[in-house]
Amino acid sequence: MIKGFLFDLDGVIVDTAVFHFQAWRRIAQKLGGDFTEVQNEQLKGVSRVDSLKTIMKWTGATISDEEFQALMELKNEWYLELVIQLSAKDGLPGAVDFLHQAKAQGIGIALGSASKNAPLILDKMNLLPLFDAIIDGNNVVNGKPHPEVFLKGAEALGLAPAECIVFEDSIAGVQAAKSGGMTCVGIGTPDILGGADLYFNALGETSPEELLRAL
Ligand code: BG6
Ligand code: MG
Repeated sequence: MIKGFLFDLDGVIVDTAVFHFQAWRRIAQKLGGDFTEVQNEQLKGVSRVDSLKTIMKWTGATISDEEFQALMELKNEWYLELVIQLSAKDGLPGAVDFLHQAKAQGIGIALGSASKNAPLILDKMNLLPLFDAIIDGNNVVNGKPHPEVFLKGAEALGLAPAECIVFEDSIAGVQAAKSGGMTCVGIGTPDILGGADLYFNALGETSPEELLRAL
């Protein structure tokens, strides 16, 4: 029986996936390269450090450890310039309502995000009070596709993995959820996001009640 929901943040609750893409593209271009939206699927859900490692491979550029650190900081600066505009009305379609409905039904709610900026974004959207637990890039050693972030989320809710549904828009995140033993709802389409148990384009296409009935 499902008793907890574990939410990814970027691309599930709020439309920040596009901000990450824009900021990383600027970094790739600074290195004399570029990458496509299709390639970007490989960066979704992946930590800042692992994302830059992948971009370095794509561009073929070689840099020192100091330059690598500086580029991670610059990417975050550029990303935060975009995030600063966010407010409570910037949830993805139906996401905030979905969270409120889940809360009203007594379902445990945890965040399972790779982002170190997650608390800031939840605060800007006034969503912090809805979460019983927040596990993010500051609390894990192993990034997605490792299941650590979701295993810690389930544990923080006092639940077994099998009692939880993960909501994810990334390939790495779906892999993390499935290897952690959770049910996974993909936010996206199966052609891009294989391996989830069920798919919606946005949380607004379903409700906690409907999901619990279907699963
Ligand atoms: C994930 C995003 O949620 O967080 C990734 O999908 C991002 O694109 C990762 O790289 C880390 O985010 P941040 O905010 O710590 O750089
Ligand atoms: Mg995401």
